[in-house]
Parts: sequence; C-alpha cells; structure tokens
Amino acid sequence: MARLRKAGRVWRDATARADAERILIGDAAASALTIDLPALFPSKALLEVELGAGRGDFIMARAMACPDRNFLAVELAASVARVFAARAGRRGLNNLRIIRADARTLVNLLLPDGSVSVYHIYFPDPWPKARHEKHRMVSPSMVAALARTLATAGLIHVASDVEPWARQMFSMLTAGGFSESPAEVPGARFSGFGRKYLAAGRPIFASSFRRPDLTE
Ligand SMILES: C[S@@+](CC[C@H](N)C(=O)[O-])C[C@H]1O[C@@H](n2cnc3c(N)ncnc32)[C@H](O)[C@@H]1O
Repeated sequence: MARLRKAGRVWRDATARADAERILIGDAAASALTIDLPALFPSKALLEVELGAGRGDFIMARAMACPDRNFLAVELAASVARVFAARAGRRGLNNLRIIRADARTLVNLLLPDGSVSVYHIYFPDPWPKARHEKHRMVSPSMVAALARTLATAGLIHVASDVEPWARQMFSMLTAGGFSESPAEVPGARFSGFGRKYLAAGRPIFASSFRRPDLTE
C-alpha cells in the first residue's frame, strides 16, 4: 500500500512525471507488438536488458557507469515502473529506457534476433507452488527466446535467493544449450534485492551463461 501511495505521489508531481515520461515507453508503443530499438536511443550501441528490474537500482548504476552502451529495463508493475522512471529521469540518463510490460512478451515477441548483448535477471519472483508455475519468468520456451534474441557470444547473468529455483533456472539454461561462464554476475550483490539479501546475510545463488552457438 505504501509503495502504491508513493507511486501516486510521484506521478502527481509535474516535474517528476515529465522526467519519467522522457524515459518510460508509453503503453501504446508497448502493446504494438514491435519495438524499434534504434529509435529508442540517441546512438547505436551494444544493448543490455534487465528483466524484472524493480526500482532499477542496478541498471541505473550500470547505465551511468557504461555511457557507451544502451540499456533497456522491463518491469511488470506499473507503479514500480513509474517510480523507477522518475528516478532515472532525475539522473538525466539518455542511454536507459524502461518498458512497462511482461518480460516474457518483450523477449518472446518484441525483441529482434541477435539484438541483445547481455541479459540481467536478478531475483525474479520464484512462484514456488506448482499451480503458480505459469507466472514464472524463466521457462524452457523463454530460454529459447533468450537464445534467439542474444547476439553471438551474448551473456545472461542470473541470480536468485531461492536455491532450488536458482538451480532450476541454471538447468533450464544448460538444457537450452547455454554454457556456464566464469564471468562475474554484476547485479547479484548490487541490485536492490541483492543488496537487501546480502545485508540480511542470506545466501545468493548466481551464475553467468553464454549463448549457445545457434549455427551448430
Ligand atoms: C524481487 S523483485 C527484484 C527486482 C530487481 N531485479 C532487484 O534485484 O532488485 C522482482 C521484480 O520483477 C518484477 N517481475 C516479476 N515478473 C515479471 C515479469 N514477468 N515481467 C516483468 N517484470 C516482472 C516484479 O514486479 C518485481 O519488481
């Protein structure tokens, strides 16, 4: 409730809203079942995508640290996406865009083949009950769509605080032809939830995976 009240307050503030609207892709564009990546960013650059970005702590810091890359964040909850967009707008980031959508729609339907250099997936809701399985972000069909949309030698970084769910995501990626990579997982300790879990002494299960060679 407090989160929704805060989102409402942010959206009523004209300056915050104007800042946010420079960053947030409108619902009309998001529902057009296509996305024109070159039109979203001022310059052509490698693209990193965070799925389920929450309030965007990790991807904002990464976009500031890597001004020569473009960043796209997708967040399902409208109230969270708006707070995130207002925060990003205040920072004047022009290499970051946010889309309010289901990550599965973005990856399965909107992103072109080979368009993404790096995916970040940190602490996606695990939905542990069998009857909630349909809500899970990572599934075998999503793994195939991640492989299709990744560029050659593209990477996926994944982290979860729920060990069985982390292991299940890792196995799905491996079964989909991804190979585990020694690359560090940049958001595991630095996303909003990563920092929270670290401070609470909770274990974090994280790994990186390289795209399968689709020509084989
Ligand atoms: C536990 S939070 C983690 C947020 C962020 N990745 C972090 O590490 O701080 C999970 C976020 O993923 C979002 N989410 C869950 N399922 C999603 C989906 N299918 N598409 C987009 N966002 C989703 C939720 O709304 C929530 O903001």
